[in-house]
Amino acid sequence: MAIKEGFFIADCVEFMNGMDAGIVDLTVTSPPYDNLRHYEGYSFDFENIAKQLYRVTKQGGIVVWVVGDKINGGRTLTSFRQGLFFQEIGFQMHDVMIYQKKNTPFMRSNAYTNCYEFMFVLSKGKPNIFNPLKTRTARHGPEMLVHNKGPDGINKKVLKELKKEKTRTNIWQYAVGLGGTTKDRIAFQHPAVFPEKLAEDHILSWTNSGDLVFDPMCGSGTTGKMALKNNRKFIGVDISKEYITIAKKRIEGITTTLL
Ligand SMILES: C[S@@+](CC[C@H](N)C(=O)[O-])C[C@H]1O[C@@H](n2cnc3c(N)ncnc32)[C@H](O)[C@@H]1O
Repeated sequence: MAIKEGFFIADCVEFMNGMDAGIVDLTVTSPPYDNLRHYEGYSFDFENIAKQLYRVTKQGGIVVWVVGDKINGGRTLTSFRQGLFFQEIGFQMHDVMIYQKKNTPFMRSNAYTNCYEFMFVLSKGKPNIFNPLKTRTARHGPEMLVHNKGPDGINKKVLKELKKEKTRTNIWQYAVGLGGTTKDRIAFQHPAVFPEKLAEDHILSWTNSGDLVFDPMCGSGTTGKMALKNNRKFIGVDISKEYITIAKKRIEGITTTLL
């Protein structure tokens, strides 16, 4: 059964069960971390979510799983267990990326302040698309650079052009809070919004215009908003009616050539 695009109130396992297999190009999602936040008592069935995500993902499609651990004495490492489970059911751990928060709200008295979460980039086989995002290089222009040693074993220098930009590293930094995460005040009625730019950067990296982007636990609708803004199709699901109301408000007024 094909499913319409937009935001839906549902348990995501039940919802995915009703989706056709192999239709999603990219999922960008973030689960409740170890019940770190209170989501009105909703249950979270990780293993079935992972299996359904594998089923609905297109061959060569990507799932970006943004996750942190509860600190309960020490770190729970639930994120690692989830990563290993994803591998067991067939995903490749294409990359383990870091989402670094420029401003860090949490402090620990006996450890350094945590400033990051993982972004597991899971692929179903070899990724279909990679549009690498670029960053400016500190120096560019012609420069004498060391050339590989020849048979005489002596390093030689040659004049080479240093490029103006290079592919970014896999640590992505974002400011968090109002103005950083988003300018939409209403989004902060949700307790755990991830930055719009984070969602957008993954959408641009792993999909092309017209592709289908999915978020099975969409909360305030960040992934959906950025998918729409970038002319991608999207499906967003959350078990909370309240959060879906927020998500729908956040996309009011966004124009796309797809709808
Ligand atoms: C970390 S939040 C996602 C926040 C989102 N990335 C954003 O930017 O607003 C996790 C979401 O999972 C939802 N959730 C928990 N269990 C769920 C389930 N079984 N099905 C669908 N959504 C669920 C919660 O209501 C919560 O909004």
